[in-house]
Amino acid sequence: MAEKEHLKKEYYCGKINEEFTGKEIEVFGWVNKKRELGGLTFIDLRDREGLLQIVFDENFDQPQLIKQIGSEYVLAVKGTVAARSNPNPKIFTGKVELIARQVRILAESPTPPFSPEKSDRVSDDLRFKHRYLDLRNLRLQENFRLRSRANLTTRNYLDRFGFLDIETPMLTKATPEGARDYLVPSRVYKGRMFALPQSPQIFKQLLMVSGFDRYYQIVKCFRDEDLRADRQPEFTQVDIEMSFSEPEELFGIVEGLMQEIFALKGIEIGTGFPQMAYDEVMARYGTDKPDLRIPYEIQDFTPACKKFGSNILDGIINSGGKIKGLVLPESAKYSRKVLDGINKYIQEVGGKGAIWMKNTENGFKAGLKADPQAIADFYKENNIDESHIVFLIGGPESEALFLSGKLREHLGKEFIEKNKDKLEFLWVVDFPLFFYNEDEKRYDSNHHPFTAPKEEDLEKLESEPLSVKSVAYDLVLNGVEIGGGSKRINNIELQEKIFSLLNLTGEETQEKFGFFLEALKFGAPPHLGIALGFDRILMLLCGEESIREIIAFPKTTSSLCLLTGSPSQVSDAQLEELAIKFTN
Ligand code: AMO
Repeated sequence: MAEKEHLKKEYYCGKINEEFTGKEIEVFGWVNKKRELGGLTFIDLRDREGLLQIVFDENFDQPQLIKQIGSEYVLAVKGTVAARSNPNPKIFTGKVELIARQVRILAESPTPPFSPEKSDRVSDDLRFKHRYLDLRNLRLQENFRLRSRANLTTRNYLDRFGFLDIETPMLTKATPEGARDYLVPSRVYKGRMFALPQSPQIFKQLLMVSGFDRYYQIVKCFRDEDLRADRQPEFTQVDIEMSFSEPEELFGIVEGLMQEIFALKGIEIGTGFPQMAYDEVMARYGTDKPDLRIPYEIQDFTPACKKFGSNILDGIINSGGKIKGLVLPESAKYSRKVLDGINKYIQEVGGKGAIWMKNTENGFKAGLKADPQAIADFYKENNIDESHIVFLIGGPESEALFLSGKLREHLGKEFIEKNKDKLEFLWVVDFPLFFYNEDEKRYDSNHHPFTAPKEEDLEKLESEPLSVKSVAYDLVLNGVEIGGGSKRINNIELQEKIFSLLNLTGEETQEKFGFFLEALKFGAPPHLGIALGFDRILMLLCGEESIREIIAFPKTTSSLCLLTGSPSQVSDAQLEELAIKFTN
């Protein structure tokens, strides 16, 4: 490194355009690509804003230095901006280049394991092992720029609405979200553990009891659960709680926030998102997070199917099951091979198969033994267009709906492809308060035990707990649950009753939530809230398929950090200090 380093970055490579022509500037960045052509050397220099072409021509007086420069070297280049003879319309800087006068090598690099520009062509393992290189990819740099701006937008927006940002503990007690906890052993109190919060749920409710009235936090949450494309063990929520309000007001606030966040990408969305009750959503789409870009809806064909006199269908119906179905256009598209593929798909997701029916050149046909006339009658009685195909899936209602929902998504993929940029928001409301946990043979909260039942259902709490609806809501965007919340119970007697219905003994609730129940006695205002999945929102905003693309240092799907090699073993001395012994 020749001269003494003096560093002052005034310009980003990626921001230089025609307006700079003739200007003398210095830029700093990484060598994206170097090539030689007819006595000239070209370097695409990259910084977080983009690429700039640097030219070293015959007047450049340090040719030896250029020879040393390799990929991912860090350079400071001084020179003059000039118009480019062969413009590149694909990049912002494409009409100009920098004619180098002086170059300083600020850092060297061995040949990197992959070029950041092409990181989408290497294995995930390699990408995440060298995440610092992967993150040099300009697509990812843009994602994190957006993430930062979305974070600031959220803060400014909520501040405008009078929400206070209050931090809650990371070392705490098991929270009620229902996933497994990450535990942290206490050194001082051997044998005792802190839990990392699955959410700030209890604390934000306590803040309402304390009178803060409107709280928010952009906060890390930790859940030890199986990972998927939209799940990480540590993730970020925009956590919101407010007193003296109703869901409609909260919905309006959240919708306005969505509007501002999506505007960051120039996407305009209207507010007044549709709302649909959970029961209706399940009946129409077979899932509580439907992708409404797919126009297909599930229908109930149970009564209509009685007429076929089919042993299989009758067997299902007589044992209390239901026959659900989908009617799709262009039956000619469904060849024998396609139908076989559909059956295989249903089996993969846990079903036995789907029964199809369609009209062919040789009359009505079906994937079950049925009189063609009976099928023709079925089409007529159910007002089904003869060019359409019908798929029937039978079984216990929840299973038939689930499988039909899966089939709807499977056969509706083309709509998602065609409508990649379309945003379909949906509030799913009126969730059941409880579900029956078959494994543990008891009721469980659908959301969490602090969720308020709907007032009109209170009398059914003991007699028909499964039919009690709650003031709980989810926000769904394009088939992804991006938020969930509820009105809370602020009355100690009702809260205790819910705990007893959940089969939590007095001692257990006291141990787990005693401090919270105590707080509820001291003037807990009516309150409600929501937590938005910030990573999921960013994933959709950036058009990514996985939240790993918008988290700087994510875990793999098997919960590993390949970069740091964590989780890792610790020394015997550390374990001893914590009085921990592993059994295997
Ligand atoms: P819930 O458990 O529904 O509610 O979580 C709120 C939102 O957080 C996001 N989310 C996740 N994102 C990435 N990885 C995960 N593992 C993950 N788990 C959840 C989802 C989800 O909708 N305390 C309540 C909120 C409340 O009642 O106010 C709660 O945490 O987008």
